[in-house]
Amino acid sequence: MLRRRRASTGRHLTSRDERPGEPMKRETIAIHSGYDVEPTTKAVAVPIYQTVAYAFDSAEHGAALFNLEAEGHRYSRISNPTNAVLERRVAALEGGLEALSVSSGQAALNYAALNVAELGSNIVSVPQLYGTTHTLFAHVLPGQGINVRFAETDTPAAVEKLIDERTRAVFCESIGNPAGNICDIEALAEVAHRHGVPLIVDNTVATPILLRPIDHGADIVVHSLTKFMGGHGTTMGGIIVDSGKFPWKKHAQRFPMFNRPDASYHGLVYVDHFGEAAYIVRDDPRVDWVRYAGFPDSPYHALAQKYLGGRACSLLTFGVKGGFAAGHRFYDALRLFKRLVNMGDAKSLACHPASTTHRQMSAEEQRKAGVGPEVIRLSIGIEHIDDIIADLDQALDAGQSTHRRMTAADWFRSFARKRHAGSRR
Ligand SMILES: Cc1ncc(COP(=O)(O)O)c(C=O)c1O
Repeated sequence: MLRRRRASTGRHLTSRDERPGEPMKRETIAIHSGYDVEPTTKAVAVPIYQTVAYAFDSAEHGAALFNLEAEGHRYSRISNPTNAVLERRVAALEGGLEALSVSSGQAALNYAALNVAELGSNIVSVPQLYGTTHTLFAHVLPGQGINVRFAETDTPAAVEKLIDERTRAVFCESIGNPAGNICDIEALAEVAHRHGVPLIVDNTVATPILLRPIDHGADIVVHSLTKFMGGHGTTMGGIIVDSGKFPWKKHAQRFPMFNRPDASYHGLVYVDHFGEAAYIVRDDPRVDWVRYAGFPDSPYHALAQKYLGGRACSLLTFGVKGGFAAGHRFYDALRLFKRLVNMGDAKSLACHPASTTHRQMSAEEQRKAGVGPEVIRLSIGIEHIDDIIADLDQALDAGQSTHRRMTAADWFRSFARKRHAGSRR
């Protein structure tokens, strides 16, 4: 439940209000939702409102804003009309009710957890997580009295085993970074709801273009906007989307923060106020293994058909033959691919998680998260496919200077074409 109210920025379109019964398509939402024309200047592009505060019409108006009785902005730390467009747009893309944008994906995860958990409570998470999320869950939140229990696997049964009366949420990444596992959202939501807790899903890797977790029962969706949602590797951001569907009132015992009067808002009770409201180089002898849900023999292939329309995203992991040393040589030899820890850029990117994003984990934790020492994660950009293939090919050669050169290119080309065709569906 996102605790605030704000004003609209001009007339704005939502996925719901265009033609009754005919929601806008995602491509259109991405361009138009949340903003139309700013009424005073008629500006067509979203204005950047660089202001800290907003004037009140009267003392009464100011008081109504502070009591959350009137819609409107008062102070930009709380809400800002430019951010509001982003929030409405992402909420519409995800099929949610409302959203809250923050400075980074990490901040979004922290808020999402702190919003539902209190001292002495716990969150149950699947083990395949982005490294800093693991750090937040394994080290930071426990320091604040919130325990995160990591399930052995991402199966509903493994998650259910850890839920008890102190559990406040189930957490997963829809597509694990970098493990590439696809979580069975419907099954996890069913388990969570049976125990009276919400399912929180980090949808950063999939994006709402591939998968809308709320359509499959998730209650809260979190994003690092820094990745595919931003798309250019230039800007950091995070967002939390509320489906508006979780019955907080029904589970008042677990979520007293939404059900008891909040002294900081003059005794307001939130539930009453807001209502319930790679084919990469697969058979290439220079490569030991490739993990990609697009492969028919992947354990996640069926879920990729179910949740992603068969388009298994542009993130994949693989192990270079020869282990860590060969992987290192491969990594250092990349020319077009940038060596960094980001993903979801227009540029092709490569990451060695064990030495960077997942460095803080123990070897056992790395193994459970799908991050061995040899693992390389690729985020495929939108450069010409032949250039992407050529760079991988020469880097694989460099990694295996004693191995013979192979025809990896065909496999990768086939992956890229399928992905491209899929994205135009
Ligand atoms: C799946 C996932 N969630 C959250 C984050 C954290 O986002 P940010 O870097 O914007 O804080 C990342 C960062 O890579 C990520 O990959």
